[in-house]
Amino acid sequence: MSDARKEDALVVEGLSVRYFTQKGEVKAVDNVSFTAGLSDYLGIVGESGSGKSTLGYALLNLVPPPGKIVSGKVIIRGKNILKLQEEELRKARGSLVAMVFQDPFTTLDPVRTIGDQIKEVMTEHGISEEEAKERIPSLLESVGLPARLAKSYPHQLSGGQRQRVSIAMAIALRPAVLVADEPTTALDVVVQRQIMDLIESVRKMGTTVILITHDIALAAQRVERIAVMYAGKIVEYGSKDVVLRNPAHPYTRALLNSVPGLRVSKWPEPIPGFPPNLINPPPGCRFHPRCRHAMDVCKKEEPPVVEVGPNHYAACWLLSRR
Ligand SMILES: Nc1ncnc2c1ncn2[C@@H]1O[C@H](COP(=O)(O)OP(=O)(O)OP(=O)(O)O)[C@@H](O)[C@H]1O
Ligand SMILES: [Mg+2]
Repeated sequence: MSDARKEDALVVEGLSVRYFTQKGEVKAVDNVSFTAGLSDYLGIVGESGSGKSTLGYALLNLVPPPGKIVSGKVIIRGKNILKLQEEELRKARGSLVAMVFQDPFTTLDPVRTIGDQIKEVMTEHGISEEEAKERIPSLLESVGLPARLAKSYPHQLSGGQRQRVSIAMAIALRPAVLVADEPTTALDVVVQRQIMDLIESVRKMGTTVILITHDIALAAQRVERIAVMYAGKIVEYGSKDVVLRNPAHPYTRALLNSVPGLRVSKWPEPIPGFPPNLINPPPGCRFHPRCRHAMDVCKKEEPPVVEVGPNHYAACWLLSRR
């Protein structure tokens, strides 16, 4: 909606998600807070297992079992997604927030035509059959597909075409927030660029885009703001240029150093050690066992989030020392 204030699009506060497994509780997302404005483009980056996808699912209140959202708020256009009743939630998914997945083959129904599946997204949200049918050709064209593909089945399409279909389904109701979880990893470089251009055009129409990726080089090319996740927490958050040029958290620096081409003065260096087990994460700062700068306090107390510059935040004891 054009009357929403820019900072209103998405507010996440104190969000925690756990997987209740036989071995114990996996603290996959722990006390995460951030905001994103209208048309913002936010990248969530971090190593495998840092909780990116879990956070993405939580934004739709769609964490699969044995996962559970244990606390927090996800407010989109003033509505707390985590407090909605079943029916309201069903309506909110699609119209307030939608998701695009890594491999659309797993989310598209193999035995129904593309047109039928797109139509269902709309009719489930109160749009009449006739209107839905009328809108399908232009929706397909808006994602760069010929209207005739409505009659095709998923297996008749290429990987790139299927991803376009899933984007068409995700944007059919013009959601306020689009979560894209590794949307191009299964695609070749040329198609990857086309899909990322398409996501960019969706953003320009007013949708807030959350791009989840382990590919920092991709995020560097595309997003406006970056949230860096480590072991279930956002350790740094800020505009892309500032975070990439002037990273404040030792983990962000290590992550950038591990990627060829981003830090020109150095050879890529792998981050020493491994991410922790999230059933028993390290006390204090979760990064301390891998951090060269770790001090005593880092092993005992969780670092507070510090504003290190305009709209630039990081959680590290080095930054709070006076
Ligand atoms: N269904 C599940 N049951 C138990 N633990 C899970 C489940 N799904 C994820 N986890 C755990 O939750 C943590 C976060 O996983 P998540 O998939 O969100 O990470 P990610 O950052 O998306 O990783 P990747 O880059 O590999 O996609 C990991 O420790 C993972 O092992
Ligand atoms: Mg993931």
